[in-house]
Amino acid sequence: MQISERELELRKSDFVRIVKLAEESKGVISLGPGEPDFTTPAFIRQATKRALDAEKTHYSPISGRKELKEAVAAKFRREKHISIDPESQVIVTCGSNEALLLAFMAVLDPGEEALVPDPCFLSYIPTVESLNAYPVSVPLLEEDGFQLRGDRVRAAIRDPKRVRAIILSSPSNPTGTVFKRKSLEELADLAIEYDFLVFMDEAYEKFVYKGKHISMASLNGMEDRVVTFQSFSKSYAMPGYRIGYAVGPEKIIGAMTRLHTYAGLSAPTMSQIAATRALTGPQGCIARMKNEYNRRRKLVIKRISDIGGLELVEPDGAFYAFPSIHFKKRGKLMPSAVFAEALLKKAGVLVVPGTEFGRYGEGFIRISYATSYPLIKEAMDKMEDFASGLGL
Ligand SMILES: Cc1ncc(COP(=O)(O)O)c(C=O)c1O
Repeated sequence: MQISERELELRKSDFVRIVKLAEESKGVISLGPGEPDFTTPAFIRQATKRALDAEKTHYSPISGRKELKEAVAAKFRREKHISIDPESQVIVTCGSNEALLLAFMAVLDPGEEALVPDPCFLSYIPTVESLNAYPVSVPLLEEDGFQLRGDRVRAAIRDPKRVRAIILSSPSNPTGTVFKRKSLEELADLAIEYDFLVFMDEAYEKFVYKGKHISMASLNGMEDRVVTFQSFSKSYAMPGYRIGYAVGPEKIIGAMTRLHTYAGLSAPTMSQIAATRALTGPQGCIARMKNEYNRRRKLVIKRISDIGGLELVEPDGAFYAFPSIHFKKRGKLMPSAVFAEALLKKAGVLVVPGTEFGRYGEGFIRISYATSYPLIKEAMDKMEDFASGLGL
C-alpha cells in the first residue's frame, strides 16, 4: 500500500508524542488546548436543537445558506465599514481551516511560494507544503515584540514572481500579538509593490485586550487583494460545530467554492443555522468570555514575570502566552521540545513546544489560558517549582 509523498513528507510533530505521554499520565494540567473551555452559549445550542427538530439535516447550498452569508455581510458593514456582496464574496466552510486550504488551493500552483510569518498557526506550513508549494518564513522576533516588519518581509522575498500570498493571523496564534497599524500598512505597501495577496486569519478577532484589532481588508486599496478568514470556534465557543467562512474578491471566492464542491461540499446545515443565530442574536456572551480570558491573561503575565528563566512579550490578544525559555542543559540552551517533555514528566503540566509553530518558535513554549483560573494558578505554581529546580 503506497502512501503519497505529500503525506510522508509532513513534518512529524513532537507535540503529538508529548500529548500521548500526557494521556498516559495521571493528574496532568493541560495548558495545551487551542479551543475555548467555555460551553457554546445556550441561545446558540437552542437554535441547533430547533434546527434538528425541524429536520434541517440535508445539504446546504455549496457556498453557504443565504441568511448566513447575509448576516456575514451585515457584520462586515457594521464592524469594518466594508461593503460586500453576500452572494459572490462569501463562502461558508467546515471551520475556517477548510477555508484556508481552499484559498491556498485556489491561488498556489506547484513550485510557487507563500510567505508565512513564523511562528504561526500550525496549519499554515503543512497546508502550503501539501500543495507542492513552498512556505517561506518571515521571522517574527521577540526583539520586535513579534510585530511583522516590512524590511523582514522584503528580505524574505527571493523571487517576487513566485510569491502569490502571505498568510497571517491577528491576533496571533501562538504569540498573542495584535498586529499594529504600522505593520499592516507596511505589508499592504509590499503586497501592492510585489503584487501578492494577503490572507488575513481573524479567528481571534473578538479577543483583543489591549490596542485595536485592525482588519487588513479595511486598509486603503486592499479590498481586491485580501481574503479574510473568520471562525465561530473561538468567538462563540463553537469548535465542534466545524463552521467558519472566508470573505474576499469574487474571483477567489468563486474558485474556492468550486474546490469546496470536492472537499466539504457544504458546511453542516445545522451548524450554519446555529451560526446565523450566533451572529444575529445577543452578543453579551463574547464580552463575558473576553473578560474572563483577560483575568487569566493578567494572572499568566504576572506569574511568568516571577519565574526566572522565562521571558514574555505581553500578549494583547487571543488566549495564548509565548514565553522564551532560557535554561541550559550540558552548556547548551534547552530546546523547546526537551523543556516541554521534562515539564510534563516532572511537574505534570502540558504546554506546546514553540517549534510546532515553525522554526522561529525554537526557544519558546506556548501556554494556553483557555483553562479555568484555579487550574492555571496550580499549573503556574508547578511550573515555578520546576523552573527553580532547573537553575539557570
Ligand atoms: C489562527 C487560527 N486560525 C484558524 C483556526 C481554525 O479554526 P476553525 O475551528 O474555524 O477551523 C485556528 C484554530 O485553532 C487558529 O488558531
